[in-house]
Amino acid sequence: MGLATGSSPIRVYEELVRMHKEEGLSFQNVVTFNLDEYLPMEKSNIQSYHYFMHEHLFNHIDIDPENVHIPDGMVPSEDTVAYCLDYERKIKEYGGLDFQLLGIGRTGHIGFNEPGSHYNSGTRVITLDHITRVDAAPSFLGIANVPRKAITMGIATVRKAKRIVLLGWGENKAEIIKKTIEGEISSHVPATYLQNHSNCTFILDTGAASELTKNKTPWLVDACEWTEELKAKAIIRLCEETGKTVLSLTDKDYNDNGMADLLSNEDSYDLNIQIFNKLQHTITGWPGGKPNADDTYRPERAEPIKKRVIIFSPHPDDDVISMGGTFDRLVEQGHEVHIVYQTSEI
Ligand code: F6R
Repeated sequence: MGLATGSSPIRVYEELVRMHKEEGLSFQNVVTFNLDEYLPMEKSNIQSYHYFMHEHLFNHIDIDPENVHIPDGMVPSEDTVAYCLDYERKIKEYGGLDFQLLGIGRTGHIGFNEPGSHYNSGTRVITLDHITRVDAAPSFLGIANVPRKAITMGIATVRKAKRIVLLGWGENKAEIIKKTIEGEISSHVPATYLQNHSNCTFILDTGAASELTKNKTPWLVDACEWTEELKAKAIIRLCEETGKTVLSLTDKDYNDNGMADLLSNEDSYDLNIQIFNKLQHTITGWPGGKPNADDTYRPERAEPIKKRVIIFSPHPDDDVISMGGTFDRLVEQGHEVHIVYQTSEI
């Protein structure tokens, strides 16, 4: 098995440990090869992938330590070439990887195969991309402490695995997941090399899959069921794309933008009005609800009149910059308003 570190596979390791402890799953006959390790990096360092793998998996299962392979982050620089060739040779000696688990970095790296990595690359020393170092900075307490180099299996090493599963969680992976799955195969996004692997699966949550065409604009790829929500989403997007206001969209705009089937039951005039009204009903001078008013089409309930409001502000100025007026109104209209600021010490 080829194994990855990072946040993506943690739950998989948790489950494997559970299966070992509760269901008797044994790893006695399993041989593992980890994708990568920082360079230089002591095994005992808590930031090392060696430490990570033992902490999350190897210390809790019955794997034979002889069968565990993790690139050594302390190989002297004059020995790295021989060391990397030997790592490849060992994988080959065991008959290659049956299964490779992957995460993906925001640069499109798999393992530490950063942009520019060659399709035929093998295990080698690479220089980490700046974005990768930025992403690793919090766990190293600052970017200055993040190593600049790493040893990684190559693209070819990974692609030779008989089965590959890539895990992607969260919206901050959405953009790179879209490029990886829908973009052109290129060394600029090394993970695109997985597109033509014959047995590769991506397992994504809704956040990571949110930029994919089939989720973002499903009407462009398939016949779809036009729920009210989807209709609104598609028409608002059409406004953005054409630069037009909702009431000025024409049949031609709908047709030219892959939304012809929306017009099969209704004409553009009616659709435009429906969405216009929907948007209109989100606008109010009473963000906390209007006392004693009919609230059927208002965005907030009339009762109770006084509400408790929490505003979450990722940075200590987002509240004022993006919703200062609403904030002011809520206070002015007598609601109890609290703000949560998220700050970082790093
Ligand atoms: C880790 C590895 C990397 C990570 C990737 C995503 O061994 O090779 O490719 O899989 O950087 O990291 P997380 O899962 O922390 O988002």
